[in-house]
Amino acid sequence: MANFDELLNRYDELSRNLMNSMKDGKKFIVVTHIDADGLCSGAMTFVALARRGATVSGRTVPDLDPKTIEVLREERYDFYIFTDLGSTLVSELALALDNRFLVLDHHELPEVSARNPAVVNAWQYGYDGGTEACSSTMAYYFARALDYSNRDLAYLSVVGAVADRQDVGEGRSLTGLNGKALEEAQSSGLLTVSKDLLFYGRETRPLHEAIASSSSPFIKGLSGSKDAALAALIKAGIRMKESAKWRTLAELSSEEKKKVTEVVASFLAPAGGGGAEVIGALIGDIYTLGMEDAFTPLRDAREFATLLNSCGRMGKPGLGLSICVGDRSDSLREGMRLLSEYRAEINKSVQGILSDSGRVEIREDFAFVTGDDLVDEKLLGPVTSILASAPQFKDRVIVARTKSGESELKISSRVGDSHNREVNLGVMMREAAEKMGGVGGGHMMAAGAKIPLSRGPDFAKTVLERAGV
Ligand code: C5P
Repeated sequence: MANFDELLNRYDELSRNLMNSMKDGKKFIVVTHIDADGLCSGAMTFVALARRGATVSGRTVPDLDPKTIEVLREERYDFYIFTDLGSTLVSELALALDNRFLVLDHHELPEVSARNPAVVNAWQYGYDGGTEACSSTMAYYFARALDYSNRDLAYLSVVGAVADRQDVGEGRSLTGLNGKALEEAQSSGLLTVSKDLLFYGRETRPLHEAIASSSSPFIKGLSGSKDAALAALIKAGIRMKESAKWRTLAELSSEEKKKVTEVVASFLAPAGGGGAEVIGALIGDIYTLGMEDAFTPLRDAREFATLLNSCGRMGKPGLGLSICVGDRSDSLREGMRLLSEYRAEINKSVQGILSDSGRVEIREDFAFVTGDDLVDEKLLGPVTSILASAPQFKDRVIVARTKSGESELKISSRVGDSHNREVNLGVMMREAAEKMGGVGGGHMMAAGAKIPLSRGPDFAKTVLERAGV
């Protein structure tokens, strides 16, 4: 059972202990993951320490591994805080850094890590770290323990939670610890929640493009075709432009949105029957950051999350951190440029896989995808997530690989959107990777690993054995 009070007490105790080191001018570093949840949690932790007057640096890493830990140790900080990573490498951290570190995380962790007092992980407090508590929410309550005025950071918890696809409560709501942080963000007036059409790009994309980009659900006749979407909307009498500018979903009246729903419904259930469930999935909770400018990707939490992912995955995670800590000028402009490059790059990788059957090997309900020399390792995670809703993969478990440097393989795995067999990818990736001399971990539905290049075939074999296939 979830134990919120115990978590808050633990954070109070930690913050009292750390406060003295901050006053003594000790050197802190916050090390975080490059994805959106990592950037939000790292930024919140960084800001909370800086506001307390600590001497603090920030660092982002694509993965934590023994080599990176060694580099960090050699830099000789007085205290290390890891956010969104570290839970599976606690023994290595303890060996390198003694008791000068803290891990704030939500990934599933082995028993031996859970017992270590340097680890504060959602699972230890009865929260499901895959659906109820993202790393940003874990960092938020730490920041709030350092100073109650850090409540103004709560909206970043919501961005982190939707980024990690934790909006899986009824009607795409946030639950558990994320739900609590969401309430705090709402009561501070930072964010509003409304029920609306979920098409991605509600603040920034022309309506027909937002609809045409829908892959989950896949709308036969509209998905992938801007022209068809535009024609259908015009036929339904929707005014598509405001002066010379395309209108976005966020600008439509409720009457117009009703019409849009009817148009989409007619494609999802052409004979007039069934499809109610799929149509229901088009509508859900929308998280709007009212203090951000309209028509920017920062106003909608899901678009904000993608912007941050694009910074992290296109090699500019520092830019993502700047945006999280409040930079809205040059960083935002540069972030938006990266966002369009990111979309184009992901699209190229996804199409490359979908159009080349030689890259896919099906073994019962598993699909092994080879992205070598096509997919950049930093984009493998998002590409695999998109494949998880493609018609040919949605009933399977996808295990995708691509080369990482000369001698390693990066692995990303996802449970397809309609797959219904019980699997725990986090445990599977961790155990299979360790057997190959690599590292792995993650959540039930999304996990990853890094293994030696030569062990690729053995890794796939081990995964199948563990799944009983
Ligand atoms: O890299 P990818 O997006 O596929 O990772 C999926 C999830 O697995 C992420 O939450 C990531 O942090 C986690 N992961 C992990 N340990 C690894 C690799 C990935 O916990 N070695």
